[in-house]
Amino acid sequence: MAKISVDLLGMSFRNPIIPAAGPNVGNGEQLSRAAAGGAGGLLAKTISREAARVPRPNMVQFGASGMLNTELWTELSPEQWLDHEYEVGLAAARSAGIPFIASIGYTPDDLRALGPRVEAKGVDAIEFTVHYLDPARVVETARALKDSVKIPIIAKLSPHSGDLGDLAAALEPHVDAFACINSFGPTLAIDIERAEPLLGSEFGYGWLSGAPLKPLAVRSVFEVARRVKKPVIGVGGVTTGKDVIEMFMAGASLVGICTVVLLRGQRMHQKLATEVDQWLDAHGYSDIRQIQGLYVQRFGHGQRVVVDTEEIPVLAADRCIKCGKCEPVCFHDAMKAPLKSLPEVSPDLCFQCGLCASVCPTDALSFAPRSGVTMRQLA
Ligand SMILES: Cc1cc2nc3c(=O)[nH]c(=O)nc-3n(C[C@H](O)[C@H](O)[C@H](O)COP(=O)(O)O)c2cc1C
Repeated sequence: MAKISVDLLGMSFRNPIIPAAGPNVGNGEQLSRAAAGGAGGLLAKTISREAARVPRPNMVQFGASGMLNTELWTELSPEQWLDHEYEVGLAAARSAGIPFIASIGYTPDDLRALGPRVEAKGVDAIEFTVHYLDPARVVETARALKDSVKIPIIAKLSPHSGDLGDLAAALEPHVDAFACINSFGPTLAIDIERAEPLLGSEFGYGWLSGAPLKPLAVRSVFEVARRVKKPVIGVGGVTTGKDVIEMFMAGASLVGICTVVLLRGQRMHQKLATEVDQWLDAHGYSDIRQIQGLYVQRFGHGQRVVVDTEEIPVLAADRCIKCGKCEPVCFHDAMKAPLKSLPEVSPDLCFQCGLCASVCPTDALSFAPRSGVTMRQLA
C-alpha cells in the first residue's frame, strides 16, 4: 500500500481527496456523510453575509458525468452555520481525525466580517472564492481576509478570472494556497420540447462542472503550479483515481470533488482514494508525493514537444477486437478496417494525427515509442 496521506499547511489529510464546495457539503449533516464516505478532509459550502436566494431548478445533469448548476452560495444564513452547521461538521472531522476548511465569500467587507467569526469556530483553514468578483479586486479581497485571521487562507480561482497564472502570482504574497478551478460559464442549455431553459436562473444561465471541465481544470492547475511555489488544490472534473493522479502530476497537492459526489454519492471519496492507492502500487510508487508536480518539472519551463516522426500507428494484433472504429475517424484515408478484419494502414497517407489510436477501445493501436520526440526551447 502506497502512502496517500497528505500534509499541507499544517493539516494532515488521511487521503488526497476532499469535497469541493457544493450541496454535497451544504450543511453539517452532509459534511458528516462526506467524512463517513472517506473524504481525506472536509470543506464546507460557501457562506456569505446573506443567505443566497437560489433559483429552482438549479442543477441538471449534462452528459454522463457533467452538470450545469445555478446554485450560488449557501441558502442558509451565516448564523445558522455559525450556531449549528459548523459544529456538526467539525465534530465529524474531529472524530475522523481529519481537517476542516470553511469557504466564505465575497467582497472584502464580507470577508472581514465573516473571517474572524468562522476562525473562532475552530476551523483549520478558510477558502475564499473569487467567483463573483471583478478580477481587479481579487488582491484587495485576499488582503482583507489575510489581515483578519491567523489560520491559512486559500484563494479559489475561477476559469473566467483571466490569466490564472498571472492572478496567482499577484495573489501569492497574500494567500497560503490556491484552489482551482470553480465551475465554468455562464453556459446555457435549452429544453427544445418547450423552448424553455432547463435552469431557473435569469436567461437559464448556469455553470458547467464535472468531467467535461477536467482538461480546463488540469491546464489551470498546471498554469498556477508553474508560476507559484504555494500549494494548489486541483478541482474540476475529477471522477476517477486516475484523474487524481493527473491533477497531482499537473501540480496539485490535494484534489477536490463535487459533481461526481452529487451524481454518485459520498462514497466516491473512498472509491477514488482506493483507486489512487492501486494506481501508485501498480506503477511502483510508494508515496503520492513522488508524482506530485511531475509534469510541471518536465514541461513547466516553456518547452514545447515537437513530435518529429515518420512513424505510423503500430497494431498489437492480439489486442485488436476488429471493431472497425479506427477507420471512420481517419480523415486522411490511411486506415482500412473492415469489420471483423485487422486494420491496415497506408504509410504514404498516414498523417500521424493520432485520432485512431485514441479511439481504439483496447489500446491495440499505438504510435511507436517516441524516439523522434525533440524538445525545443521557446523563444
Ligand atoms: C451545484 C454546485 C454548487 C456549487 N457551489 C459552490 C460554492 O458554493 N462555492 C464554491 O466555491 N464552488 C461551488 N461550486 C463549484 C465546485 O466547488 C467545483 O469548483 C466545481 O464544480 C468543479 O468541480 P467538479 O467538477 O468536481 O464539480 C459548486 C458546484 C456545483 C456543481
